Amino acid sequence: MSKKAIVFGATSGIGRELARLLVKDGYEVMITGRRKERLDELQTENPGKYIVRRHDITDLADSETLFKELPSKMQQVDLIIHNSGIGENNFSLEWEKDLPTIETNVLGATKIYQLSYNYFKNQGFGQLVGVTSIASLVGNRNVAAYHASKAYQSNYLESLWMKARKTKKADISITNILPGYVDTDIITGPTFWMAPLDKAVKQIYGAIRKKKRKAYITKRWRLVAIMMRILPPQILVKFF
Ligand SMILES: NC(=O)c1ccc[n+]([C@@H]2O[C@H](COP(=O)([O-])OP(=O)(O)OC[C@H]3O[C@@H](n4cnc5c(N)ncnc54)[C@H](OP(=O)(O)O)[C@@H]3O)[C@@H](O)[C@H]2O)c1
Repeated sequence: MSKKAIVFGATSGIGRELARLLVKDGYEVMITGRRKERLDELQTENPGKYIVRRHDITDLADSETLFKELPSKMQQVDLIIHNSGIGENNFSLEWEKDLPTIETNVLGATKIYQLSYNYFKNQGFGQLVGVTSIASLVGNRNVAAYHASKAYQSNYLESLWMKARKTKKADISITNILPGYVDTDIITGPTFWMAPLDKAVKQIYGAIRKKKRKAYITKRWRLVAIMMRILPPQILVKFF
């Protein structure tokens, strides 16, 4: 039997490329996102290997429905990648701009993390991957909600990792992926060290296969992570 995966947020960028790599590697993949036409388009590349499920991560009731439907769609689920995410500049701290980020990256993400962990606990095994960000390591005066939401996710994943380590009832792996800048639609402002999408996704998939607890993408962003940990906020404020 082929391995089965779910990619939340597979309509573009990192999620779409990850889904393609998984299929290339023999997986059957459920692909989700709001833009159904993008999912249908991806499915035409290999119709027998993709299951299309339109899904808005902020619809918490539908997230529950999706997980209830799983046994009828997939015999087992080996891997769940939570990749959906948004973020936008909010220079004047407008609530209307922060709210969608919180609904998507905090509420929506927590629901998927919980449902996935519990699904794997009942199943007895599974790997949960969260695509957070290097942004989780530091605040940012112009993109506060995005940075804070990614810090929340990173911490939540670490808690799940701790939980998984202590449980004897199931073999659950937790992987936190922290990309720096990757060339996708989400990038709108000035950047540095921008990684080509294919290079970043290859490294992400390598980390998933090795079941790493945490991976910086691309690898050079580990240096930035170290700097962020040792530099005082008085210095970091010059850059963020
Ligand atoms: N590119 C970077 O430099 C970078 C750096 C660090 C972290 N990341 C993270 O990487 C992840 C993927 O982003 P990307 O760079 O590949 O950008 P992207 O091309 O904009 O992809 C974002 C994905 O999230 C999905 N999504 C957004 N809101 C959603 C919702 N309400 N319900 C379901 N799906 C939703 C989108 O699908 P629909 O719009 O079709 O729903 C899309 O598939 C994000 O979590 C992002 O924060 C990216």
